[in-house]
Amino acid sequence: MKHASALTATSSTHSVLAGCHLIALTPRGDDRGSLIALEGGGDVPFDIARAYYIFGTRVGVERGFHAHRALNQLAVAVTGGCTMVLDDGHRRVDVRLDAPDRGLSMGSMIWREMRDFTPDCVLLVLADRIYDETDYIRDYKRFLELVHA
Ligand code: TYD
Repeated sequence: MKHASALTATSSTHSVLAGCHLIALTPRGDDRGSLIALEGGGDVPFDIARAYYIFGTRVGVERGFHAHRALNQLAVAVTGGCTMVLDDGHRRVDVRLDAPDRGLSMGSMIWREMRDFTPDCVLLVLADRIYDETDYIRDYKRFLELVHA
């Protein structure tokens, strides 16, 4: 497994896998503290149709284990951290998400698994479509067939 390297101060995005990028989210804090605004067309590379968040994840739980046919998403660990495993059917990359100023954009046809959640992790996910179970590919063999077709 390869761990994605940290973003540098001079680059705002870092390619992780085709269609997947780490994005340095624009800080708007001041001497009162920090603030980050997420807008479609801003740091979020799509129009936002849905937001959901994963929290209270029990120790040792792994989730995800699916790809999306068309959905684009951006994930941010607002507190705590977790590891996102991304797989394009050719290679796998582990990305540790543990900073509220770093987003991970994920395109379609990427298998993703999430693990190693800290107990305090709140993983915010923005998506460009509303929830649609028919967009999910939940069988890894089927995912590989589609990628390699
Ligand atoms: P699930 O897809 O199992 O989550 P993950 O892939 O992150 O492990 O989703 C858990 C449940 O929540 C499932 O019943 C579907 C539902 N759900 C929604 O209703 N809307 C949503 O936006 C999401 C992501 C899930």
